[in-house]
Amino acid sequence: AAAGAAPRDLEGLRVVVTAGGTREPIDPVRFIGNRSSGRQGIAVALAAADRGADVRLIAAHVDDGVLAEASSRAGISVERAGTAVELGERVAGAAEAADVVVMAAAVADYRVAEVSPRKRTKETAPDGGITLDLIENEDLLAGLVGRRRDGQTVVGFAAETPGDGETLLERGRRKAARKGADLLAVNEVGWSKGFESDDNALTILDAAGGVVATRNGTKRQVADALWDAVVALRQKE
Ligand code: CTP
Ligand code: CA
Repeated sequence: AAAGAAPRDLEGLRVVVTAGGTREPIDPVRFIGNRSSGRQGIAVALAAADRGADVRLIAAHVDDGVLAEASSRAGISVERAGTAVELGERVAGAAEAADVVVMAAAVADYRVAEVSPRKRTKETAPDGGITLDLIENEDLLAGLVGRRRDGQTVVGFAAETPGDGETLLERGRRKAARKGADLLAVNEVGWSKGFESDDNALTILDAAGGVVATRNGTKRQVADALWDAVVALRQKE
């Protein structure tokens, strides 16, 4: 639907959306990151605001031009989080008062065990290569699902690179079962697929792995399909 023609079916709902990729510092000048631009998550936040929700957008590293549109929009408050740990603190606090939480952020699975306070230098490193020790980050989505209140809806995203005889749907179903989120939005990514693009293709699964909807289109159209699925799910409960 065109902006302005959006249904106001999220009126009165408090929504938290995370978007973008976390950056895990190695030292003051380097980090481990990922290719998420935050476009899909920001589209989810914009769609929710247009449909009447009160939106808190927690943005990790995102495309600044895309974020600017959300920052200037009534109904959306934007806060920033750099690392997975920071994002975790913010989303846990925000979720306490939220009706719906959408984890669209690409949260780093690992962080650097010992962040160097000064720039690492080759002078003090062994010849031929170094090893970085990584520690697993907390699974924020799993934490939200574990603390979910009655009437609260928790939505996850999964970007997958299917292969080795496993389809996108099979991988998504296993993840849906493992995560326990009310909905899991699965999309395929690859070297030249999914990132920085204006379009996306989503398969939306319920907690049991059942296909609730599939949608190909702009990230905004896909975001609206996700909110349609959230509204339908909340009406059933
Ligand atoms: N997620 C999270 N905390 C993490 C990692 C992921 O909350 N430490 C969330 C993401 O925001 C997303 C969902 O979990 O909504 C699925 O992320 P994904 O990376 O696909 O799942 P993982 O369990 O990390 O599995 P994988 O090994 O495939 O990366
Ligand atoms: Ca992951």
